[in-house]
Amino acid sequence: GAELEAVRDRIKQLLHEQDAALVAHYYVDAELQRLAEETGGCVSDSLDMARFGKEHAASTLVVAGVRFMGETAKILSPEKRVLMPTLEAECSLDLGCPADEFNAFCDQYPDRTVVVYSNTSVGVKARADYVVTSSIALKLAEHLKARGEKILWAPDKHLGDYIRRQTGADMVLWDGSCVVHDEFKAGALLELKAKHPEAAVLVHPESPAAVIDLADVVGSTTQLVKAAGSLPNPTLIVATDSGIFYKMKQAAPGKTFIEAPTGGHSATCHSCAHCPWMAMNGLHNLLTTLESGDNEVLVDEALRVKALRSTQRMLDFAK
Ligand code: 13P
Ligand code: SF4
Repeated sequence: GAELEAVRDRIKQLLHEQDAALVAHYYVDAELQRLAEETGGCVSDSLDMARFGKEHAASTLVVAGVRFMGETAKILSPEKRVLMPTLEAECSLDLGCPADEFNAFCDQYPDRTVVVYSNTSVGVKARADYVVTSSIALKLAEHLKARGEKILWAPDKHLGDYIRRQTGADMVLWDGSCVVHDEFKAGALLELKAKHPEAAVLVHPESPAAVIDLADVVGSTTQLVKAAGSLPNPTLIVATDSGIFYKMKQAAPGKTFIEAPTGGHSATCHSCAHCPWMAMNGLHNLLTTLESGDNEVLVDEALRVKALRSTQRMLDFAK
């Protein structure tokens, strides 16, 4: 209603006054995605969020997503002020890969090239040779394999296993997973496919292997949004966070979208596949952040400089 409209207007005014760009992930509230669109910010996957933040001229970046996304922005743009609606938004992959344990793991495999997913802390990125996101992980593994390099991969075991199966690269995997994608169930998905023979299945590679094996398209969130628009199928079954439907519906108006089944599916839960940390971002804490200047992302400078090498390699490789 009118109150919501006033909050939206106030946020737009503050973004403008503070020379700030809003950078949002597809999994955050549709209201935030819409604001990012309307104010010249961006809505994208984690690679394009990093690129946009680095290239944009704004002196402040407001990152609506989870902590590693804000930290990546700060690693790449230390001169910019980076704010987040909340600093409490974690990621199970990041939480499941503490830097000290990760360093000990790497010490066991000194001959391997260390490739980490961007869903990690600055300390983990500081130890890595390369940072990747799901959109370029396969390509980088192929590239390293062609150079005869062996890989240490962390932290997502499903994505690591998918890359290993696709490329045949020699990889050791850290044992981590995403709490959202780990819940998709292959058996129920098979039944759903049988009911909808006209449907294509879109899967994010953080899902279990048995779910990936049922996919028509496997890719990062941006790749899945693009596939939704370009595939001829009138119906799309989607195995990723339900926040993505805001953009998918824009990309493919008129198509029918069905959420892939999760273990937690019930009559009371219409969007079980939704990241609890992404859900912590909202219009009200965005407004409070802009008004107060609180929730600034700060990273240790010595770690940042180390993490910049592997993170910059991600951008260079993605070119
Ligand atoms: P994308 O890079 O595909 O956007 O993935 C980020 C993420 O957190 C998926 O759960
Ligand atoms: Fe992390 Fe999964 Fe949430 Fe993405 S959806 S931020 S991988 S917990």
